[in-house]
Amino acid sequence: MSKREKISTESYKGVRDFYPEDQFLQRYMFEHMERVCELYGYEEYSASVLEPAELYRSKSSQEIVNEQTYTFTDRGDREVTLRPEMTPTFARMMAARARDMALPARWYSIPNLFRYERPQKGRLREHWQLNADIVGASGVEADAEIISLAHAIMRSLGAEERDFEIRVSDRRILDAVYNSVGIAKEYAADVTRLLDRRAKIDDFEAQLTEMIAHEEKAVKLIEELEHITSTAYLEELRVMLEQLGVRNMIVDTSITRGFDYYTGMIFEVFDTSPDNRRSLFGGGRYDNLLSMFGGDKIPAVGFGMGDVTARDFLETHNLLPEYAPATELMLCIVEDDATSHAMRLAQDLRREDVTVAVNFSGKRIGDQIRQADKMKIPFVIAIGAKERDSGRYTIKNLSTGAEMTLPADRIAEHLFSSLG
Ligand code: HAM
Repeated sequence: MSKREKISTESYKGVRDFYPEDQFLQRYMFEHMERVCELYGYEEYSASVLEPAELYRSKSSQEIVNEQTYTFTDRGDREVTLRPEMTPTFARMMAARARDMALPARWYSIPNLFRYERPQKGRLREHWQLNADIVGASGVEADAEIISLAHAIMRSLGAEERDFEIRVSDRRILDAVYNSVGIAKEYAADVTRLLDRRAKIDDFEAQLTEMIAHEEKAVKLIEELEHITSTAYLEELRVMLEQLGVRNMIVDTSITRGFDYYTGMIFEVFDTSPDNRRSLFGGGRYDNLLSMFGGDKIPAVGFGMGDVTARDFLETHNLLPEYAPATELMLCIVEDDATSHAMRLAQDLRREDVTVAVNFSGKRIGDQIRQADKMKIPFVIAIGAKERDSGRYTIKNLSTGAEMTLPADRIAEHLFSSLG
């Protein structure tokens, strides 16, 4: 290949490569999410990233479908979409089995999702999103459980209640206001999406007026929305959340959420730090989505928590975990002819559950140890003719410098007690 034909090492626009340090953090977050979901009785599920494009046409938000999906035609002339969100997939899977399933059902998943967005802080073209949803429970206790689960994940990641705020509202407030102002049904979804973007646009009132083609109604709508500060339902939810130990929920009727399918409680979790004042994630109740697949009406509520905003949150609040490689021990080779001995020792240690790498670099022993240190591997053993012949090995702890000489069958035990 000539110089000009070299392939770029850059990833596709708006997606990320995960080097071991990045993957370590990703896994840290996912393990916390998974653990807390399971503490709440949620079971893990999964699905393909490929969905028939049709799934999103009537069920998501028009903006996502028209402007943000990755859709292509496959070799068999089928229209295929890379899933932009998990809720339609979840609803499809649930609707397919709802008849034989014990309800309420609680499921979670951490899929990667694709949205053709303008990449910016907190928004990329591929992200991972924890989805936790409960199906078959229509009461306030399911809404409370979902919010409490979101709260517990934040706490598990090290957040204090003052670090974030759970802003809750209810789509029924919007429905009531649209009704009283006289906003026609066909405009409702567009108006809701416009309201969702309200904080990001300057000429909100003008756009609203244009959308519903009625200035008086626009003014009245804005006034009425400002007037409603809470509802009996949201106050009941607040009491229940307090009983569950959630004290950072506030009612904020300006929360609307972008998707068309929400029907009841909606919420969004915000970072309270002045350095990162933004929505971290959100969700809500969608009682009509499952019946779109032809079955009975089955209530559902859940949320989606993205990894990009979660990382930003952890960074802002100094909650990032310190990187530790999976490898606990590196065997460094002093003389070439000790290599096969080192490889056999590594096999023995692996059987005892020690994660161990053998250094094949052929470099000087000091360089090999520096390499282990650079990789943040906590322990090394230098292996030469002396170790091979005596069967005794000196384990060095690279962070403290402490050394311990032991026979092979005592190494694993020593490492585990030092690693705690
Ligand atoms: P959403 O608000 O579109 O909701 O996404 C939920 C979260 O996913 C966002 O708050 C954000 O953390 C993350 N997210 C979304 N888009 C991006 C992006 N382009 N880049 C990075 N992060 C992103 C939903 O998707 C609903 N389906 C959630 C849900 C589940 N509602 C009920 N159940």
